[in-house]
Amino acid sequence: MFTTLTRWLLACVLVLPLAANAARDQHSYSNPDQVLVTHLTLDLTADFDAQRLRGSVVLDFKRVAPEAAELVLDTRDLTIEAVQQRVAGIWKNAAFEVGKSSPDFGASLTVQLATEADQVKVVYESDPGASGLQWLEPAQTAGKKHPFLYSQAQAIHARSFVPLQDTPAVRITYDATLRVPKGLRAVMSASNDPTAPKDGVFNFNMPQPIPSYLLALAVGDLDFQPMGERTGVYAEPAILERAAWEFADTESMLEEVEKLYGAYTWDRYDLLILPPSFPWGGMENPRLSFITPTVIAGDRSLVSLIAHELAHSWSGNTVTNATWPDIWLNEGFTTYLTYRIMELVYGERRADMERVLGYQDLEADIASMPAPDTRLLPDLTGRDPDAAFSDVPYEKGALFVTEMEHRVGREAFDEFLRNYFQDFAFQSLTTDQFLAYADQHLVKPSGGKITMKRLRQWIFEPGIPEGAPVPSSDAFDRVAAEAKAWLAGEKSAEALNTESWTVDQWRFFLNNLPRGLSEQQLAELDAAFGLTASSNAEIAHSWLLIAIRHSYAPAWPRVDSYLVEIGRRKLIVPLYQALLESESGRQRATAIYERAAPGYQVVARNTVEALFDN
Ligand code: BES
Ligand code: ZN
Repeated sequence: MFTTLTRWLLACVLVLPLAANAARDQHSYSNPDQVLVTHLTLDLTADFDAQRLRGSVVLDFKRVAPEAAELVLDTRDLTIEAVQQRVAGIWKNAAFEVGKSSPDFGASLTVQLATEADQVKVVYESDPGASGLQWLEPAQTAGKKHPFLYSQAQAIHARSFVPLQDTPAVRITYDATLRVPKGLRAVMSASNDPTAPKDGVFNFNMPQPIPSYLLALAVGDLDFQPMGERTGVYAEPAILERAAWEFADTESMLEEVEKLYGAYTWDRYDLLILPPSFPWGGMENPRLSFITPTVIAGDRSLVSLIAHELAHSWSGNTVTNATWPDIWLNEGFTTYLTYRIMELVYGERRADMERVLGYQDLEADIASMPAPDTRLLPDLTGRDPDAAFSDVPYEKGALFVTEMEHRVGREAFDEFLRNYFQDFAFQSLTTDQFLAYADQHLVKPSGGKITMKRLRQWIFEPGIPEGAPVPSSDAFDRVAAEAKAWLAGEKSAEALNTESWTVDQWRFFLNNLPRGLSEQQLAELDAAFGLTASSNAEIAHSWLLIAIRHSYAPAWPRVDSYLVEIGRRKLIVPLYQALLESESGRQRATAIYERAAPGYQVVARNTVEALFDN
């Protein structure tokens, strides 16, 4: 059929780019440049009593280097019971070795391969403290009756529940069987069947190749409610209806992105609402974004999170960062897309406000970071990607993308993005590959409107470059004027013109109040606007930050309950940081953390504990 030459050319095109990227991933022990895993078949039992996933994974692989005699996988705190290999259709034991374990990266699992081996099977179990899982007691769920399990693989935690090549440079398809207690529903980042009976066994298939960090599962008392033709929500019964109402615009968001950037290629787009300990706002697990319940505000004010996770279906899941320093390729483009979606679905005014809030977060973050880490392409050698997390890849990335758009014009840039998503579909790329592509398809055709020098400045230099497209919002100018009048004592809080303020405007108001307010001023605001009691998790966060910084005593019980109930890193970390600024705050933080810690996911716990150690 194929001539040798065509086959060789195909091999170069299909395999070499992967291999070239993979060889550079500092956060993986694996050897995809020699043996490339292409498919997983999982059969796992969720043992809630032991808090372990138990079972096996069969890994299909291709030999990239024909002589390769070893398959190297990533693991973290896994107990490996047996390793087999299939040789000419027959399963045989394989020699294996688990390497020395590092606290952040886990340990390698090296399997000796027979020349004709084409599959490897690992029988294993996860550790109760697996960094990529959280096992919740019934009391930690909305319904309080059933336990809950969820995974969070990004960045390098998939290895704590499946031995695999844990690098985003490698893509795999998968099949899975999950065995769970009867009466619970299991879901995955794959084909989910909302009508599947809760009889203890669930089967899944993921035919689109995904990077390992998008492997995801959850088990709980989950029901399903459709929101649109291709969209729906899985949640505990107690919150299902509220969630479906909150996120009812998901289908229109999906339609808007498709119009701009091309067809959605992942079949369905559903949401899974997690218990409040979920350490992230959202996670773009394909076909099934994982979502914090802290964005169910009752007024759709925090739905940009959905726009964000949906946008990842293009930037991130279809076109993927090849290594973790390249994460701005995922998060920067996605943040840019988020604002575009917000603009299309809710209008320019709201999108601009959210751009400004994002920009202000970025400024604050940059001010507190070592300069080298404020580069879009940071050096993460030897560092845990979780520890190096910041707003830089998100908001600096989005600003950079916005500047490219402004320079060449929206129409031309939209076309560039459409092509980019198509040309790299189901591939992983490095920043260098992006630069080469942009040179060809954006910079050269622009006739001098944008230069490679400028692109390199954005990517390789710290901080925000001079001339960046700093966002602004008239709606915030009006808020700033009210704030000024109140601070100057010209108007009482009650007399402020706040009736029509949106949640974004409240956040801007609170985030921009100066330090050094008096107790009386805080009490006045609180009395006028009920801030301590706010049920909006973002408003409460902004207010509690102020309260802590000013030792505003009436807010202490709320600080306490907020930190105990919520485990979302972005909402709790700044509050702990603020508490740790004073000695009395440290004591308070210690007491709160002692009660809160058992409810936090491992990664959130590690982040907070690192603050205490500083
Ligand atoms: N993919 C990220 C979450 C993530 C990043 C997990 C890095 C682990 C390592 C997700 O899409 C995200 O960005 N979530 C944000 C949402 C926000 C920016 C709208 C979050 O969780 O706060
Ligand atoms: Zn994201």
